[in-house]
Amino acid sequence: MMLRRLIRPARRLPWVYILPVLGLCFIEVLIHRSQYNVPRPAHELDEPFFKGCQEPDVNHPRENAVMVMLARNSERDAANRTIASIENAFNKWFKYPYVFMNDEPWDAKFIETLNKTAGGRATFEVIPKEQWTFPPSMDAKAAKQSMKEQGQRGLPHAGSEGYHHMCRFYSGKFYQLEALKKYKWYWRLEPDVDFTCAITYDPFVHMAKNNKKYGFTIALWEVGTTCPSLFRDIANWKELHNIPSNNLWKAAVQASWVPYPFRQMLAYFMPHTDRFGDMWSLCHYWSNFEIADMDFFRSKGYQDLFEYLDSKGAFTLRGGVTPPSMLWPHDLLYQCPANAPDLQLTEAEVLLGNKPYWPEKPGGVGCRCRCDGDMPRNHPGYCLNKLKQPNTRARPWLTWLL
Ligand SMILES: *[C@@H]1O[C@H](CO)[C@@H](O)[C@H](O)[C@H]1NC(C)=O
Ligand SMILES: *[C@@H]1O[C@H](CO)[C@@H](O)[C@H](O)[C@H]1NC(C)=O
Repeated sequence: MMLRRLIRPARRLPWVYILPVLGLCFIEVLIHRSQYNVPRPAHELDEPFFKGCQEPDVNHPRENAVMVMLARNSERDAANRTIASIENAFNKWFKYPYVFMNDEPWDAKFIETLNKTAGGRATFEVIPKEQWTFPPSMDAKAAKQSMKEQGQRGLPHAGSEGYHHMCRFYSGKFYQLEALKKYKWYWRLEPDVDFTCAITYDPFVHMAKNNKKYGFTIALWEVGTTCPSLFRDIANWKELHNIPSNNLWKAAVQASWVPYPFRQMLAYFMPHTDRFGDMWSLCHYWSNFEIADMDFFRSKGYQDLFEYLDSKGAFTLRGGVTPPSMLWPHDLLYQCPANAPDLQLTEAEVLLGNKPYWPEKPGGVGCRCRCDGDMPRNHPGYCLNKLKQPNTRARPWLTWLL
């Protein structure tokens, strides 16, 4: 009798409890997600500094800046192509110096060829061994074993020791290189890159003037398997230092649809989540084209973050922070805007040269761009828009599911 009484009501009752609980969960999720809504700015945050062509203002004082390239002796032709291209598109007017970096001694032939193409403004540095190696805290043998395993799992480049050293070098050591200490700004170049538009203004000058720290051209989804714990590590570091979530942080997070406390429990099993269960959107920008203020990377805050990630083996034990140019052929992913109408300065310009015809298109922003058979394109990617204009409401349906 007692037993029956206990069981019978239990058969009917669940919905009476479950429905309100579901309702509360739903409301909790809505409130939680609303904390990640980021207001859309009234206008594009980063308009190009100029549209179309300028007559290069070569009398304006230069910034304290340098063009840098990490290359190997075997990449001489590819490096030469990049330098010829950037000289022609930009640096023949502004004449910034170049620093080439190698983890091995340079071939005389490389130096001769590249210095010549660089207009005699190049120096050639060998990266000190202590900056091109494993973190001091790490057992090199264990690290090598881990790389071997990553390689066997088919992670791109993960099996190569040099690749990990490069990730680590570019992420934290590069800014401390003796040869670069005297510079504030750098423009990173890679072998085998073609600059398809004329850059007729000095981006260093205009970044300084507009208080910009970092410039990039492409933002895409990361290959998630290369860095399963990167976001967790960074989120933990952020928490450790009591850094509040600003809009850019929120814009990089996909707030979870799972109610508390289950999302926090799921976080134990899910990669790319912070410990509260919210997920990184995998959006990141590509560092193979970047113009940046090295003082930012030399700051205590950044170096602290680097040391923290380094101590977690982020650049060695796992795939590291991938410079994705190595994952994708350059000719698949590029920026080549259409040319700005009536702004090509095709008549009687002094430095630019008087060139007869450049295809123009309404809405174009470029200066004398030639996309060489490829479509002109001003990469409209989801990630790029998201980083430029944080707005969680305008998500494509796919990302709602993530
Ligand atoms: C390097 O590039 C320059 C400019 O395009 C070219 O004239 C030169 O032949 C190239 N040198 C080599 C060794 O390929
Ligand atoms: C590069 O060329 C310039 C001018 O020809 C020369 O003065 C300089 O010593 C060269 N640099 C190297 C590293 O060879």
